[in-house]
Amino acid sequence: MWVRIEDIGEYEGKEVEIRGWLFNSRSSGKIHFILIRDGTGIIQGVVVKGEVPDDVFELADELTQESSIIVRGIVRKDPRAPGGYELGVKDIKLVHLSESYPITPKSHGVAFLMERRHLWIRSRKQNAILRIRAEVVNAAREFLNKEGFLLVDAPIFTPSACEGTTTLFEVDYFGRPAYLSQSGQLYMEAACMAFGKVYCLGPCFRAEKSKTRRHLTEFWQIEPEIAYADINDAMEVAERLVACVVERVLERRKRELEMLERNTEVLEKIKVPFPRISYDEAVKILKEKGMDIEWGEDFGAPHETELANSFSSPFFVHRYPKKIKAFYMKEDPDNPELSLSFDMLAPEGYGEIIGGGQREERLEKLKESIKRHNLPESAFEWYLDLRRYGTVPHAGFGLGIERTVAWICGIHHVREAIPFPRMLDTLYP
Ligand code: 4AD
Ligand code: MG
Repeated sequence: MWVRIEDIGEYEGKEVEIRGWLFNSRSSGKIHFILIRDGTGIIQGVVVKGEVPDDVFELADELTQESSIIVRGIVRKDPRAPGGYELGVKDIKLVHLSESYPITPKSHGVAFLMERRHLWIRSRKQNAILRIRAEVVNAAREFLNKEGFLLVDAPIFTPSACEGTTTLFEVDYFGRPAYLSQSGQLYMEAACMAFGKVYCLGPCFRAEKSKTRRHLTEFWQIEPEIAYADINDAMEVAERLVACVVERVLERRKRELEMLERNTEVLEKIKVPFPRISYDEAVKILKEKGMDIEWGEDFGAPHETELANSFSSPFFVHRYPKKIKAFYMKEDPDNPELSLSFDMLAPEGYGEIIGGGQREERLEKLKESIKRHNLPESAFEWYLDLRRYGTVPHAGFGLGIERTVAWICGIHHVREAIPFPRMLDTLYP
């Protein structure tokens, strides 16, 4: 019977078949130990001379790393084995003898591995990260579905900018310019007026020309949008969403977090509500720490890192100056210099994982803002319609999947938090 390694505990004492690849092997003359991986886990197979036909014993010795094999054997409990079980091998069928595999158990440089990302994802650490990514996405979707948000897909080809014109990827759309979507937000604003509470999940594209550990040119966002909601409503959904995602990963991806040697103390302590500080307070904190920043400036990577080191839980910074935020942000009624915007920053130095806020719902104010940002009003006529036909206060946010995964996994760079990263100098494989 073909079983998956992650379920192996259910088959103790039984004969099973595993279909996978040779991860590694060693030999002590009369016994070959073969580590078999099948994508759900790794198990050690023990091949004993005399207990298997001679040709099978020889084959076990000749297998190269990543050769594909079908192995039959008896599942035995063994507390010393990683995962707690091993396989007493009875038979091995060779599917394909791998050529000399470039990624050996010794360590390799990142550039070497990135060029071989299509193979690198087979390795234990990358496997663990990508499983956690899948859990993060599933947990976020399930949370929003349960909360009554409707999934509405946003387009990828768009006629206009959402997050500033400097990072637009232009494509030739039958002779006219179109842009790859930077965010599904504007479409979610239309959708929330049709369905109340909505979200989209999809890739976003930004021509980020800087090389940082936080930036990809193609990344994924999950973007909820709520009609009849203000900035506080959006922050509440955001913190419950993140708390729920972290809890789910701790519950279901324990083994992967252990594999990554993630210290989960911070993750385990997370509970709502998250601390909230205003932009003004954040600037004060940074100045006290001796950072170079003036009121009105946006935070750069070092500022975010410094702030994120000051907290042991995710936290919000709200009410950024209007002029450093996107055109759609609603002005703060208490101070026209400020916007009803917020970011959520992850602790432990990770920085921004969410950007969001309350949207300008008044037609004239929005038109002014479009002008101020030098955006072509004609491309936004449809968006302005939302303010003409039954406009209401509304708010939402976007959670960056890769930054969230990088933080939860405790990895340094977002490039390992996506299966096939796209960056300034990375388009292959
Ligand atoms: O703060 P941003 O630009 O906000 C928006 O796009 C809003 N339209 C979202 C909304 O309100 N619906 O991006 C949101 C999040 C960031 O907090 C970050 O996690 C991620 O998207 N992000 C990136 N991740 C990786 N590489 C990049 N270049 C990213 N740019 C943004
Ligand atoms: Mg942002």
